[in-house]
Order: sequence, then structure tokens, then C-alpha cells
Amino acid sequence: MILAPSILSADFGILAEQIKKCEKAGATWLHIDVMDGHFVPNISFAMPVIKSIRKYTDMFFDVHLMITEPERYINDFIDCGADGVTFHVEATDFADRCIEMIRSRGKLAGISLNPNTPVNAIIPYIEKVDMALVMSVEPGYGGQKYIDSVNRKIKYLREIKGDYFKIEVDGGITADNIDTAIDAGANIIVAGTSVFKGDIEENIKRLTR
Ligand code: DX5
Ligand code: ZN
Repeated sequence: MILAPSILSADFGILAEQIKKCEKAGATWLHIDVMDGHFVPNISFAMPVIKSIRKYTDMFFDVHLMITEPERYINDFIDCGADGVTFHVEATDFADRCIEMIRSRGKLAGISLNPNTPVNAIIPYIEKVDMALVMSVEPGYGGQKYIDSVNRKIKYLREIKGDYFKIEVDGGITADNIDTAIDAGANIIVAGTSVFKGDIEENIKRLTR
């Protein structure tokens, strides 16, 4: 299991310091949420922030694009330091092109779906991507409650894709429910609030125990 702390819930005034703490506690992935105020109601941050933090760590930058027409920006996000780029199936008419753009640059390609999007929406692309990101909250904000019904989608994807495929779950993960997501078949776990609220190193230890 890989834990991917989501910096959306970090203190941006001391972001580099907080990332170092994640690294020290053993995290190898960093989940980076990009929001455009269009595909989702919220706006977060984009290239300048990613480029800045790239200097401070070699962690895997797992960039989650919650933006309309991701094909317009994929190359820019790779240029500023993304190791993996995940886009939403709902956000583009050109999913195949997005996958090709990411993979042609040697990066990990992920496809994501919202809680209300049926898993069938990503099936046409599932053989072409490296990872499926199953949203377990409505995208846009940290600190929401995990939607249990998404476990069915995770189980289904695990069944059809076998043991080694990357299935990431994102939203509402806590020390109390992390096991249900893992039992369903998720092997990459995003956690924002439950990592950054309080003591980062202790929180990561509790989540990865
Ligand atoms: C939500 C983002 C998540 C968010 C998770 O739209 O995609 O990555 O940071 O935050 P928590 O873990 O607090 O639900
Ligand atoms: Zn995310």
C-alpha cells in the first residue's frame, strides 16, 4: 500500500517543511490537487507551486487534475515536475489523447471518476492507463466524508485488472476507514486532512501501521 499525502490540506506558508515531514515519516508519493473553479467549484494552485516544491523533494509527484479540458495543460504540468498525471473522464472529450500525451513523455497516466460516474465510463481506457483514481468524495474540497458505495467500484476494478494494477482512492480517508478501502482493493491511498491536521509524522505512522 502506498500512502499519498494530499497537500491541499497542508499549511502553504510552510509547505516545503511539511513535505519534508511526510518524507521523513516514510511517504514516497505526494498527491497534488489542481482545481480550476470550473470542473470543480474550488480553485487551488497550479504550476508555480509545483515547480517550487519540486526543488525540495524527490517524492513521486502524483498530480490530480480537476480541470476542464486537461489536454490543454498536461505538458505544462509535466514540465513543472509531475511524475504522474491523472485527469477526469468527465472533463474531456479526448481521453485517449490525454493518455497518449502523458505516456509519450514517460509519465504514469491515471484516469479518474467522480462518485456518481459509473465505472463503465472508464472501462474503454482501462487497458491504456497505469492507474484508476476512484473518487470517494465529490471533488473540490478536503475534509469530506468517505462515500462507502464507491468500494463496489474499487472491488470491480480489482477483479478485472488483477493484483498489480494501481487503484487509488481519494477523499475522506481516516485511520478508522483506511482498512475498508484497502480490503476493497485500493493500493494507493490519498489522505489530506488525516495527514496534515495535527502531528504529520504521527498521523502518517497511524495510517500506515
Ligand atoms: C478532493 C481532493 C482530495 C482531497 C482529499 O477533491 O481530490 O485529494 O485533498 O482530502 P481529504 O483526505 O481531507 O478528504
Ligand atoms: Zn485528489
